[in-house]
Amino acid sequence: MGTTPAPALEARDVRRSLPLGREQVEILKGISFRIDHGEFVALLGPSGSGKSTLLGVIAGLDRPTSGQVLLDGIDVSRMGEGKLAEVRNQKIGMVFQAFNLIPTLTALENVEVPLYVSRRRDGSPSKHARQMLEAVGLSHRLQHRPGQLSGGEQQRVAIARAMVTEPAIVIADEPTGNLDAANGDKLLALIADLQAQSNTTFLIATHDADVASHAARQLKLSDGLLVDGAEPR
Ligand SMILES: Nc1ncnc2c1ncn2[C@@H]1O[C@H](COP(=O)(O)OP(=O)(O)O)[C@@H](O)[C@H]1O
Ligand SMILES: [Mg+2]
Repeated sequence: MGTTPAPALEARDVRRSLPLGREQVEILKGISFRIDHGEFVALLGPSGSGKSTLLGVIAGLDRPTSGQVLLDGIDVSRMGEGKLAEVRNQKIGMVFQAFNLIPTLTALENVEVPLYVSRRRDGSPSKHARQMLEAVGLSHRLQHRPGQLSGGEQQRVAIARAMVTEPAIVIADEPTGNLDAANGDKLLALIADLQAQSNTTFLIATHDADVASHAARQLKLSDGLLVDGAEPR
């Protein structure tokens, strides 16, 4: 066995077809790439190119029709549901365009949720969640509910929630899509800071070349195929 650590994420010839009437439409047409630990990568492609479909397959929310997805060296593409849920909780943090926080919980409670699910980290979930909210600049908003926070603040809570379990990779689908330009820029600067400080691996899907330019590498997707950036530099 080699001593090279497994990449944070590897896709091997991932295909995904969906039925459309009596036909099968191929949405992902054989995607292969590798992302090493500590990389900050953008998945850039126009609307409809398959970004959300690919993130869904990576996150185990969807199954590839064929091909493999390896998270930290673990093949999740044909894993059973129970085990998959566990691996997903441990290895992946997710951030969505629409924030997807639990509206009835405070910021602090939202960030605690994945720690209660995983029971992975020692010590108090509350303490870890507080530290993470401090890292995203929200120490003064711990007891606010999502409805009492701005969009930019809600997305920072979502990033804290995604990072609090120290996952192998954080994947974000159009994370600035519901923010104005100024707040989008602030969020991307924050992600770059967090990434540099914690060495967390980030994969951010966007249709916007300006957003993608914040990342150190760009995976370019066009009509279900990667056209550039599949290997770490
Ligand atoms: N559930 C579905 N059934 C059929 N087609 C779908 C479904 N989801 C997505 N598609 C199609 O797959 C393509 C890629 O969609 P998507 O992954 O959402 O792209 P992106 O996130 O890059 O905008 C689009 O042509 C879309 O219409
Ligand atoms: Mg999308």
